[in-house]
Amino acid sequence: MTVAELLALAAARLAAVVADTSPRREAQFLLARALAVPESWLLAHGDARVAEGAAAEFLAWVQRRARGEPAHYIVGSCPFWGREFAVSPAALLPRPETELLLERALALAPHRQPRILDVGTGTGCLAVTLALERPGAFVVATDASAEALALARHNVRRWGAAVHLACGDLAHHLQGGWQVVVANLPYLPSATLAQLPLEIRHFEPRLALDGGETGTQVVRALVEDLPRLLAPAGCALLELGQGQAEEVAQHARSRGLEELERIVDLGGVERVLVLQRQQEGPAPSNSGATG
Ligand SMILES: C[S@@+](CC[C@H](N)C(=O)[O-])C[C@H]1O[C@@H](n2cnc3c(N)ncnc32)[C@H](O)[C@@H]1O
Repeated sequence: MTVAELLALAAARLAAVVADTSPRREAQFLLARALAVPESWLLAHGDARVAEGAAAEFLAWVQRRARGEPAHYIVGSCPFWGREFAVSPAALLPRPETELLLERALALAPHRQPRILDVGTGTGCLAVTLALERPGAFVVATDASAEALALARHNVRRWGAAVHLACGDLAHHLQGGWQVVVANLPYLPSATLAQLPLEIRHFEPRLALDGGETGTQVVRALVEDLPRLLAPAGCALLELGQGQAEEVAQHARSRGLEELERIVDLGGVERVLVLQRQQEGPAPSNSGATG
């Protein structure tokens, strides 16, 4: 079959499942990955014949996509901040809105050897990018999922990033003194998970999505610990869901933290809350820190 024939066939098979995006664009994305060519090459070579093996692999991918599996899981990688990250159903796919958090974290991180902590690292996209964009940074990333952490380790090695990985609940097992804490923790209310689109509900890990009854349970638990974790004047950047910023900001204020900023995403959602530990004042208790 030719490139043009394969694209037409795939677009027809995908029409039902990806009607809200573009079946044609999705078909192009998958065929370009299957043939290891840029998508623009496909447009210029519609008459090119595709080898049988490659066509069969592509059509198998189209079948998986037609069953709802996200295209990035099928091809095994996803872009974040201009780099490709290995992905698997062990971790959430990196999302464009998380780049908002990253951008501000880079602006806030001190230039000389900042100490940066990523809580709930998933693929490691935030930790790896921060380490690569701030050479000399001391970066630690945690996750409660051993499978997610194995994926993060793969990405750390793939990019040769200086990131230390630690498995555990939030950062309870770590000492304080962080100048920047970034966290994109699960923030969806448990009751809403059943209404998520199939491709999220069936394929992305529940541990990455489920934020408890109100959605803010995991984030609030981290905020509790921020006065201990943050260095004086250190900042925390928390990714949140719709309508959660005020509640989490209030909780942070009750813990003595200052709200620096709310970053609004393209959809008008207050997506990232930036908090700061005050410069002065009594040192918070470090009890429970083991290393
Ligand atoms: C929404 S995903 C975000 C992953 C990644 N930071 C990103 O931005 O793509 C949340 C991650 O937090 C992890 N997680 C959930 N609860 C946790 C907890 N109590 N302690 C540490 N990690 C947790 C999940 O395993 C998942 O990898």
